[in-house]
Amino acid sequence: MSAIRPTPVAATGGIDWARVRADFPLLAREIHGKPLVYLDSANTGQKPEAVIAAVDEFYRRHNANVSRAVHTLGEEATTAYEASRDKLARHLNVRRDELVFTSGTTLAINLVAYSYALPRLKPGDAILLTRMEHHANIVPWQLVAERTGARIKVAEITPEGELDLDAMHAAMTPEVKILGVTHVSNVLGTVNPVREICREARRRGIVSVVDGSQAVPHRAVDITAIGCDFYAFTGHKMCGPTGTGALWARREHLETMPPFLGGGEMIREVRFDGTVFNDPPHKFEAGTPNIAGFIGLGAAVDYLATLGMANVDAREQELLAHATEAMAKIDGLRIIGTAKEKAAVISFLLEGAHAHDLATLLDLEGVAVRSGHHCAHPLMQFYGVPATCRASLAFYNTHEEIERFVAALGKVRRLLV
Ligand SMILES: Cc1ncc(COP(=O)(O)O)c(C=O)c1O
Repeated sequence: MSAIRPTPVAATGGIDWARVRADFPLLAREIHGKPLVYLDSANTGQKPEAVIAAVDEFYRRHNANVSRAVHTLGEEATTAYEASRDKLARHLNVRRDELVFTSGTTLAINLVAYSYALPRLKPGDAILLTRMEHHANIVPWQLVAERTGARIKVAEITPEGELDLDAMHAAMTPEVKILGVTHVSNVLGTVNPVREICREARRRGIVSVVDGSQAVPHRAVDITAIGCDFYAFTGHKMCGPTGTGALWARREHLETMPPFLGGGEMIREVRFDGTVFNDPPHKFEAGTPNIAGFIGLGAAVDYLATLGMANVDAREQELLAHATEAMAKIDGLRIIGTAKEKAAVISFLLEGAHAHDLATLLDLEGVAVRSGHHCAHPLMQFYGVPATCRASLAFYNTHEEIERFVAALGKVRRLLV
């Protein structure tokens, strides 16, 4: 299969970010007659030409099912699909056979909940979650808790939106068997010290499940160095197609976990009196996968690797600092989430304005932000608000867009307040 190369960019420190931005065709759109300012990358990321082209090329030239046919197209499809697993494994410093492809974080965490936790938990056991988890790292645990008699414990946060680490470590009592923690909060932007947290959990025999959805797209992540048991992430927030993601798990867990879904590909031999399952990770990948999507995700990894995750991170920190400073000057604007270490996510409220009205009027100015509970009801309950507006940035945003966003906020404020 011919390789589709991302647009070359200059080396570290000398990246031409305007050229990088031009790799994203959608960003050239106008919305309501205004140039689009896309500030919803925490919801889903935009896709560079290289990813779109990889998906397009797969369907035009290589479309076939994977791991089944010996014909040339089948071989090409399988090779390209499995090459994406290699790229992701290298990108995150893990073994390829410990990386299970899923449709995203939600399926990845459900896989852990049903396949790892359900057979093990018993009445009296506890699952420790943090206040800032996305519903995808809460609801699967509640469903499993209901069926096993385990209970949910909550690690609280400070008003700034940081985990209270002493309280969290103190909450790691003997009945806690599983810990669910997000690497980066999708609402507050808080970067949690997952390495330290997972080390404490491990010392106490607690199995850790890290939700990396908002970390992998924005920073260099070394899963092995984190030392967790499970790490889940989603592909569509990291420039990849929707319907892609993965669960990384320690080999020892994957070997003892029963399959989550049954069907083709996850078996070695099926007889009516019993089935022999395939080896991990295939044991957990039943049915025809999102082949084009994962090939696109491989192209996304190539693209990000060409930029360098340290450069992506540095660029986004620069944009975050600019936006935070400019927004702080707007009367009546309150930023929710002021942790010392933050990713480029800014939740905010404007006194006297409802978050949805704010987002609707910003859209008329061409600015796309998300409003709502961001799939984090317990966090909204903590701050005593039904919803926030959220501007989430990516490396393809510009300083000029931040100025346009802040000007639009000022205009909308005059209309609403
Ligand atoms: C922190 C976090 N966890 C989990 C998810 C769920 O990801 P997906 O819908 O791709 O499964 C999201 C997506 O918004 C998220 O931000």
